[in-house]
Amino acid sequence: TLHRHLSTSSSSGGIERMTVFGAGLMGAGIAQVGAQNGLKVILSDVTDQALQNGLQIITKSLGRVAKKKAPDDIEGFTREIMANIETTTDSAKAVEEADLVVEAIIESLKVKRDLFGFLDTKAKEKCIFATNTSSLSVTEIAESCGQSRQANFAGLHFFNPVPAMKLVEIIRTPHTSDSTYEALRAVTTRMGKAPVTCKDTPGFIVNRLLVPYMLEAIRMIERGDATPEDIDQAMELGAGYPMGPFKLLDFVGLDTTAYISSGWREKAAQGQISEELVRPIPILDEMVKQGRLGRKSGKGFYDVSSVFGGLD
Ligand code: NAI
Repeated sequence: TLHRHLSTSSSSGGIERMTVFGAGLMGAGIAQVGAQNGLKVILSDVTDQALQNGLQIITKSLGRVAKKKAPDDIEGFTREIMANIETTTDSAKAVEEADLVVEAIIESLKVKRDLFGFLDTKAKEKCIFATNTSSLSVTEIAESCGQSRQANFAGLHFFNPVPAMKLVEIIRTPHTSDSTYEALRAVTTRMGKAPVTCKDTPGFIVNRLLVPYMLEAIRMIERGDATPEDIDQAMELGAGYPMGPFKLLDFVGLDTTAYISSGWREKAAQGQISEELVRPIPILDEMVKQGRLGRKSGKGFYDVSSVFGGLD
């Protein structure tokens, strides 16, 4: 019974081989859900150490999945899925045969454009390129490629932690073709995700609504309206949210939120989002300066171990 742990669903818009760039938190998760659903995955990063780090993230996560799905054969389950993942630091080789490239490297327009510009000359003409950017313009990233590739280019925005979060946002630029869009819907569905579609606008759907909400929560404590604890309790018990805005800020990272909102201030100047929503917040900037970043630094609005101790 070879492949007994793998999903056998076959309709994935012609995509069988996926190459993921960036073996960090997001790239590892994307590689994992691809491999778990039968795609042949290549994971690429700039150093062997980063690749090892990615494989470790995947192994650990698969161990958790296996406990539920194959409690009697955790090792076999993990081995079978890991057999679908190869790694390389050679980015040209990584895309030679790819049907789909998903980029999840650092959030820098220049670095992403450099990578895609290079890959455009190495990948098959039909290969679809996708970026997992949260805050950059997908269209501006795509413009690093030639015209025909721009038709095969879209945003594919996954959520952290990728294996657990069902949603993926598919971002269409003005150049994204219908066939590219349909192929991405098919492959993300095969990966067990529920796709939604959005135009290339600041924050797409989820962050466009969530970021201003979290920023307004910080302004509430700045004004002394209520405490973080009471605001979180109010949104959890009164709005039914799984975590209130301050727990969410600590989870996402205060630096990430500050970075997104400062990026949006430029877009506000161009009229793409209201200025009012992204006004600077002194408390937020000060906390970031002090290194109080949330979960990743151990302290944010909360002493984070007390809130997230059990999350890993
Ligand atoms: P991370 O810092 O965990 O991983 C980034 C990885 O990219 C590192 O391993 C780094 O060595 C590698 N890298 C850097 N330059 C590279 C290059 N030129 N070629 C290949 N690999 C390269 O970052 P994370 O959190 O996984 O984020 C990746 C992307 O996903 C970013 O664009 C981020 O905005 C986006 N994103 C992040 C989310 C999150 O919650 N962390 C959620 C959704 C999107």
